[in-house]
Amino acid sequence: MSLPNKKGFPKDFLWGASSSSAQIEGGYDCDGKGLTVWDVKPLNPGTCSFHYASDLYHHYKEDIALMAEMGFKAYRMSIAWARILPEGEGEINQAGIDFYKDLFNECHKHGIEPVVTIFHFDLPLKLQEKYGGWKDRKMIDIYVNYCRVLFENFKDDVKYWLTYNEQNMLVFFGAFDMIGGSGKFSTPNDLYNQAHIQNVAQAKAIHLCHEMCPNSKIGPAPNITTSYPKTCNPMDVIAAMNMDDLRNNFYLDALVFGEYPKSVYRYFEKQHVVIDVHEGDFECMKTCHPDFIGFNCYGNDTTEHLEHYELDLSELEKADNRDMSYLIKLMEKPGVGKACKNEYFAKNSVDGNSYDPYCIRVTARRLTDRYHLPVIITENGYGRPDVLEADGSIHDQYRIEHLKETIKQMKLGIEEGADIFGYCPWSAVDLVSTREGITKRYGFIYVDRDEDDEKAKTAEMKRYRKDSFYWYKRVIETNGEDLEGEK
Ligand code: BG6
Repeated sequence: MSLPNKKGFPKDFLWGASSSSAQIEGGYDCDGKGLTVWDVKPLNPGTCSFHYASDLYHHYKEDIALMAEMGFKAYRMSIAWARILPEGEGEINQAGIDFYKDLFNECHKHGIEPVVTIFHFDLPLKLQEKYGGWKDRKMIDIYVNYCRVLFENFKDDVKYWLTYNEQNMLVFFGAFDMIGGSGKFSTPNDLYNQAHIQNVAQAKAIHLCHEMCPNSKIGPAPNITTSYPKTCNPMDVIAAMNMDDLRNNFYLDALVFGEYPKSVYRYFEKQHVVIDVHEGDFECMKTCHPDFIGFNCYGNDTTEHLEHYELDLSELEKADNRDMSYLIKLMEKPGVGKACKNEYFAKNSVDGNSYDPYCIRVTARRLTDRYHLPVIITENGYGRPDVLEADGSIHDQYRIEHLKETIKQMKLGIEEGADIFGYCPWSAVDLVSTREGITKRYGFIYVDRDEDDEKAKTAEMKRYRKDSFYWYKRVIETNGEDLEGEK
């Protein structure tokens, strides 16, 4: 007898791509949908709003047919909470239920498994106004009630549920950036109390899903990437471990083990964070048992030691959040560590973004080792402006190179033991970036629109296949064996 030796991608690997309701759907006020915090979000100069986005709301049949042409096995998407419950709670909007029913039917017609995020940033505005969003513990029941509506209506349509997209990034970057509401950073105490509320809410949703949808699986979808130490100086190694605890493990340990990593308690002490824990919170988290972990992974973090000091973010409240140095500054966590340039990858850096094809391989192996759960990559990729040529072609070789190297490493990761069951890069169809409009494109499918909302209102938003469309089709066809594409 020989040792089992895994080679290549599993036979039923879920190849697909990803999106989110606010960034792709448009139709922001159609058929009874309520407003969300993203519909009223302050925008960076020159960028479009989320009102019309890529108009998937009116193009979903065409878009799903194009995904099917690429051979997708899965489509990771999200439901707009305010399409289902216009005020976030209370009255149900039947038109919203019908829309997603149709969309799921369309996916199944083409053999595509929807992987559905319950909440991807677009909080119903009413919940923000009435409760201050996730600051209020009442949000636990409100979110669980929303989940109940989804499970009741879609239990036969959805096999894979994701509780919450990138909860950890909202907390890590101070929520300011993503929610864009107050114009002020929240205090660490506010942020981590919200995180705890969200953890309990997700745990309850996982319990409920297991009860109501015995044929479905459910897991979280944070943004997880490994922190590399800047040098082999043990102080940098410890900083990277601390960062891993604060940025990643805090969220996943909560849902898998029902506890928080101990190094985070030291950060809490220094930052005067006192979590309001209610009786039963940890028990609820400990016993919820997610079925898998979804994670978004765009690159590594590189961390160096940082002594404690008082961090002054007031300057950043006026800064342009499209500048990478803005995000890097927000990754200074006194007493934990600070982000720094990775010298190894700096050479292939474009626009301040360094490209690390190893990030999924390293992170998926670490997740498999720590949690012993299967993992799916719910986002990965690279956004840049693309050019629509006169003949309708789009030559996005940079995207092909980026994904090719990542998939190569992912395959090695699987052979080394990472339990990866799917890959959904960002994104299937071009959509609106969180901070950089539609100019920063991520899709395999190009959407013909620009930053002008007035034009977008009535634009045809014609779809075009990019070069990466044909390349990814071949990758899927060969189950990840041919990464070179047809010559
Ligand atoms: C992830 C989010 O953080 O990154 C997506 O889940 C987002 O919603 C994606 O669009 C890419 O980031 P950006 O800022 O380029 O849109």
